[in-house]
Amino acid sequence: MDNFKFYSPTEFIFGKDVEQEVGKRLKQENVTKVLFHYGGGSIKRNGLYDTVIKSLNEENIDFVELGGVKPNPIDGLVYDGIELCRKESVDFILAVGGGSVIDSAKAIAAGVKYDGDFWDFFDHKTTVKEALPVGVILTIPAAGSEGSSAAVITKEDEGLKRGMGSDLLRPVFSFSNPELTYSLPMWHTAAGIVDMMAHIFERYITKSENVVLTDRLLESTLVSIMEAARVIITDPENYEARATICWAGTIAHNGILGVGREEEWTTHGLEHELSALYDMTHGAGLAVMFPAYMMYTLNEDIDRYYRLATEVFGVPHDYEHKERVAEEGIVRLVGFFNEIGMPTSLEEADAKKEDIPKLIEKLKINKGESFGNFTTLTLDDARAIYELASEEE
Ligand code: NZQ
Ligand code: ZN
Repeated sequence: MDNFKFYSPTEFIFGKDVEQEVGKRLKQENVTKVLFHYGGGSIKRNGLYDTVIKSLNEENIDFVELGGVKPNPIDGLVYDGIELCRKESVDFILAVGGGSVIDSAKAIAAGVKYDGDFWDFFDHKTTVKEALPVGVILTIPAAGSEGSSAAVITKEDEGLKRGMGSDLLRPVFSFSNPELTYSLPMWHTAAGIVDMMAHIFERYITKSENVVLTDRLLESTLVSIMEAARVIITDPENYEARATICWAGTIAHNGILGVGREEEWTTHGLEHELSALYDMTHGAGLAVMFPAYMMYTLNEDIDRYYRLATEVFGVPHDYEHKERVAEEGIVRLVGFFNEIGMPTSLEEADAKKEDIPKLIEKLKINKGESFGNFTTLTLDDARAIYELASEEE
């Protein structure tokens, strides 16, 4: 096990109706004025917007609103949010939504306290030294941003989707009521499930040795996610299954499942280029790219993929044919993604093989000539992985 530091300061408040207490929780933070940040309207349709307003009013909390965050959030609204916070002397940001809203809130939180252009953080020209506190009411289990240090924003005019991270951006609190996720369309439920599984794979696929406890936690979280997903497909309002998915999404990315080992994240990089070029749903892009990445790197460490196949996907042991077992694990992963309605090739995701050079061009800007921890990949390898993700291969 490698040395590690694990830091997760967020208070997670989980269960039925918990979001009604958001006003009281904010009161504990001694806030003067809150920015209520949200997305494209789902919270107005399912009543959460009214719940939040009621809870804020009950505690006499002053607030301003900024809605309109779109999936794959863009820099334009971040600039608007920074300006609004400064004008209104906002001292706390409440993000009500999913990864896109939370990430937009985090970028605003860092930007308000910085004299330069907030994009400098995403260009990695500087790091976050100070930020407004952010609190969350989570509406979609997926990105894990409610417990993570990361934010991912797209610079719209350059088509660049980039992440940055700082422990200062970890939310102060996160409310999660699984019932709030009943109104999610199946597409977003499934994309969220793929994303949290991908966060686990990015930690599972490692060359760090002797991290058995973390391995088993990762494996049991994957198994629990798949079991719950199969319940939700036929019974979308099954509270226990939704609750499993909600909590799994959080622990998949707050850091607890990455301790003592080197993490990967190459596939996220490959996916971000799909989101940037096609405005593709992040989880759908990962469903396309992960099996291809796994197939391509299978022989880097056949035992790792053999273990995944047998412990998570129930492939019977066959020590004489490890490669076959390992491959069967990936085949079963593809089968699961299809079962929950996710695309598993570029074409199924409405992406084009002809665009691969464009993806590579942007990948080069974002990642350089080579990248990866489990194994070092070049841009030629990345091209081959995109080609593998094409059903024409
Ligand atoms: O905008 P509204 O109308 O709210 O609709 C949203 C949106 O269209 C809808 N939705 C959310 N909750 C709902 C609901 N619809 C009905 N009922 C509800 N309860 O779902 C759609 C997707 O929302 P979004 O916030 O985009 O989803 P997600 O949580 O998957 O976030 C995706 C973003 O997070 C980034 C991704 O790259 C992507 O930009 N990521 C952030 C990470 C982080 N900060 O740590 C890590 C991840 O790897 C990821 O990269
Ligand atoms: Zn992700």
